[in-house]
Amino acid sequence: MLEDYKLKMPGVVHGGEHALEKIIEIITDKYKKPAVFTDKGIEAAGILEEPFRLIKESGAEMYLIDEIPPEPTYEQAQKVVDSFKESGADFIIAIGGGSVMDIGKLSSIAATDDYRVKDLLDNPLLGKKTVKTLMIPTTAGTGAEATPNAIVAVPEKELKVGIVNEEMVPDYVILDGRMTARLPKKIAAATGIDALAHAIECYTSNKANPFSNIFAMEALRLIFSNIEKACEDSSAVKEKSNMLLAAFYAGVAITASGTTAVHALSYPLGGKYHIPHGVSNAMMLLPVMEFNKEACIDELVEIYDVVEGKEKESKEEKAAWVIDRIGEMIKRLEIPDSLNAYGIGHEDLEELTKAGMEVQRLLVNNKRAVTAQDARELYLKIM
Ligand SMILES: NC(=O)c1ccc[n+]([C@@H]2O[C@H](COP(=O)([O-])OP(=O)(O)OC[C@H]3O[C@@H](n4cnc5c(N)ncnc54)[C@H](O)[C@@H]3O)[C@@H](O)[C@H]2O)c1
Ligand SMILES: [Zn+2]
Repeated sequence: MLEDYKLKMPGVVHGGEHALEKIIEIITDKYKKPAVFTDKGIEAAGILEEPFRLIKESGAEMYLIDEIPPEPTYEQAQKVVDSFKESGADFIIAIGGGSVMDIGKLSSIAATDDYRVKDLLDNPLLGKKTVKTLMIPTTAGTGAEATPNAIVAVPEKELKVGIVNEEMVPDYVILDGRMTARLPKKIAAATGIDALAHAIECYTSNKANPFSNIFAMEALRLIFSNIEKACEDSSAVKEKSNMLLAAFYAGVAITASGTTAVHALSYPLGGKYHIPHGVSNAMMLLPVMEFNKEACIDELVEIYDVVEGKEKESKEEKAAWVIDRIGEMIKRLEIPDSLNAYGIGHEDLEELTKAGMEVQRLLVNNKRAVTAQDARELYLKIM
């Protein structure tokens, strides 16, 4: 548990059934030309009509950037930043999942000729915010709407790298269930497990503290009781909204605490093999939680007492229940649980281990120290 801790939150967060309408109030009399960041999948989902109508109603002229690829590399991010710089826009509205929001956040600190996105990889604190941001998440989700992080792939390192700078904490957030109402099951499941990973990693992290614990535990309570229905039942409005809240809370928990070995070891799976972020975390979650069980037993018992709460004989039984329940969610949501499906086999083990061990930024947060041999064995469990 950290002794000194801090809570850095987005400026204003709007939630609830009509939260989208706040777009008008946010823009009017402040911004003349907002740039909307989004992607083709979100356009195809048909959920942009309402936000576009509201932007128009505010009287502002909208500039559209919709060429953001999923899980972009830093070079692809730079291209978007360049097109934003040319646009002359004075505000950033990111409507999308983590990929879109991260590039919106990066653009808010990289719209300058003084440095490039590549420079921020090694020296993130160079970044200074020049444009304010509004985040409207459409997945539930990465929690990127709450965090100071932007994650980009770095092909030459075969890794995903987190650029972390508090300047990127968004100015405005809108959490409106309409934006995730039609999320396809596959995406809802993987992004929902990502939120679960954020919450449980932050709660069991060396960086956990009273601030992050409040948010992480509430996220866990909501996810344990809503994730399956939210993903499987298209009419489950309440459960989907609860997942959107949970993902945001888990993002706040990341900001105050930090993820651990699940995210660390999943970064090479995204960076080199392009496994979607939520799927790679779902794969690593069970093996790492089993590995961490003894070191985190008190935290797992606390989680059990909140999310289930029934009498049980021993701490071990409670901790095992939490881990089994996570396994049950992943199985029921039909998220791939093996690297074989992605053509990754034993011949890749050494390279994976080496790349995973490079993510010391997160591995140091893990309660049980992770050696290269441990990482190797953890990857072997999903081969
Ligand atoms: N900044 C952070 O704190 C943070 C935290 C976790 C993950 N991330 C990063 O976020 C990225 C992953 O984000 P993600 O998991 O939200 O997925 P994503 O943004 O990559 O989107 C995945 C796909 O879902 C589609 N999609 C999104 N919303 C939809 C909707 N409502 N309806 C239909 N389709 C929709 C998109 O078009 C895209 O094709 C990764 O790069 C990851 O590293 C960032
Ligand atoms: Zn994540």
